[in-house]
Parts: sequence; structure tokens; C-alpha cells
Amino acid sequence: MKNETIQQINEWKQKKNAVILAHYYVSEEVQALADYVGDSFYLAKVAKDTDASVLVFCGVSFMGESAKILNPDKVVLMPDLTADCPMAHMATAERIAEMRRKYEDLAVVCYINSTAELKCLSDVCVTSSNAVKIVRALSNRTVFFIPDRNLGRYVAEQVPEKNVILNDGCCPIHAAISAEQVREAKQLHPRARVLSHPECDDAILSLSDYIGSTAEIIAYAKQSKETEFVICTEDGVSFRLQQDNPDKRFYFPKTCPCCPDMKLNTPEKILRVLMTEENRVELDEKTRIAALRPLERMLELGR
Ligand code: 13P
Ligand code: SF4
Repeated sequence: MKNETIQQINEWKQKKNAVILAHYYVSEEVQALADYVGDSFYLAKVAKDTDASVLVFCGVSFMGESAKILNPDKVVLMPDLTADCPMAHMATAERIAEMRRKYEDLAVVCYINSTAELKCLSDVCVTSSNAVKIVRALSNRTVFFIPDRNLGRYVAEQVPEKNVILNDGCCPIHAAISAEQVREAKQLHPRARVLSHPECDDAILSLSDYIGSTAEIIAYAKQSKETEFVICTEDGVSFRLQQDNPDKRFYFPKTCPCCPDMKLNTPEKILRVLMTEENRVELDEKTRIAALRPLERMLELGR
């Protein structure tokens, strides 16, 4: 990345009172210039609490949308409006309505990786770092968990007192990691601990020593006395893992999971939106208000 681009980004940030938020899955160069880098829960909290006037969200569309829902008066920009999470669309209003008809005392729990329209139909949002805690805290016994069947199944195992109904969606990037790839990595690095994201398939989680969100995986590796790890999540986390632990070794499954949508964020696009204020995230007020309720409930219950 040209130093000139970074310098210009910093100048425009000052001029516009802007901050740059980035998820751990974006490229190293974007993470390196961001003001805040973190997992989905952390970024939602930053988006809610910041006093900046402009937020540049380097992630995928559900993240920019959540920032706008929480901050209607702020300008929320995305470097690339086509950066979208395919899983965010993998639930339907029809199925939610069907479940509500079937179960009187139902909580619709919506993984934050969902469109604003799905959030509007839900009772509470969760992220991978607070899903277990929030589902456990609900008074409802029956939960319809959308859209990720893998995180939903993981939550169901951790909270056996609830009846968790799963929806058939998943992250294609995590779903592509196979148990065979993980076994192969373990054979090559027998001393390595396996750290996995709960968006992975059951077969991967049962081979894992630790399961957590991106931030939790990063924190676990840092505090661990072990020095070798097989990481089952998107490869963007390797930047922070290496920065925090220069003497530790991190290995990824052979196909090296990479989310092409996250990688659409580039320094050049950040500079462009800062200068032009193009790519604003906009939501109609009715949708925003309806989607705010489950997000605020998450922030309250996840505290
Ligand atoms: P977390 O960073 O919250 O673990 O989310 C992972 C993810 O898939 C974001 O798209
Ligand atoms: Fe969506 Fe998976 Fe990409 Fe995260 S890694 S944004 S869940 S496709």
C-alpha cells in the first residue's frame, strides 16, 4: 500500500471526524490502518458508542447495516457496497411465521450475520461470542435459531435445557473446511491445538480443543502456553495472531479459508468513500426501528 494513500486517509479522517472499523477477516493492510479491529460484537459496541460523525465500516453489508441501525444520525460508509455475507440471506420470513404459529412461546434468535429484514422479524440478535449466554438468559424454552445451523447446533449443545430449532443456513467459507483437512493438519503438526469458530461443521468442532468467536480465538492463543495452533476460521485472523505471538506457529486447513466478500475492502476504496461520501448505508425508518429492538436487546443481555 502506498504511504501516500495512508496519509490521505488520515487527513480525510480528521477533516470528516471519521473512524474506520474493520473486522478481523479483512486484509492485513486494511486492518493495519483501521482505528478499531475486532469481532462482530466488539464492532457493534464501538459503532454504538463512538462520537465520530462518519463511520467507515470495513466488513460486509450486515455489519454496515447494524452500525446504521444503531446510529441513525451518523453517516455510515462502506468501501464496497457489494461486500455481502451469503449466509445473511439464508432464512425466510415464511419459515419464521410458520414457527411462530407452531410454538406459542417462541423466541426467534437471529445471528447478527443476517439482513436487516430478518432482524426485524426476530426477538433478539446474537453474535458468536454471546450466543450461548443470551440464549441461556431467555425466559422462552423454545428457540428458533436463524440463519446458521452450525452456530445454532453449538448453542443447543451448550444450553441443553432449551429446545433449539435449527434453520438450514451456513457460512460457505467455514462449511468448506473438512474434518479430513483438520486431521491432516494435526498429523503434520501433532503438538498443535485446534481452535475453531462455531460456524464450522460439527465434525470440525468435535476435533477442536477450543471453540470461540474470532476475538476469543485470538485471546485464547495469546494466553495459551502452547506454541502451535491449527486455526479453523477465515485466514484474516492470522494478521493479529502473528502480531500478538511472533514466536508461536499458526497453521490453517489446506484450502486456507478466505471470504472473498471481506477481501473487497481495500485502502483505495476507503480513501474514495472518505473523500466522496459515496456508498452510504441507508435504511427506511420503519425497518431501522424494527431491527433496532433485537440489536439493543443483544447489547443489553450480552453486557
Ligand atoms: P465473529 O468475528 O463475531 O466471530 O464473526 C465471524 C464472522 O463470520 C463474521 O462474518
Ligand atoms: Fe459471511 Fe462466512 Fe464471509 Fe463471515 S466468513 S462474512 S459468515 S461468508
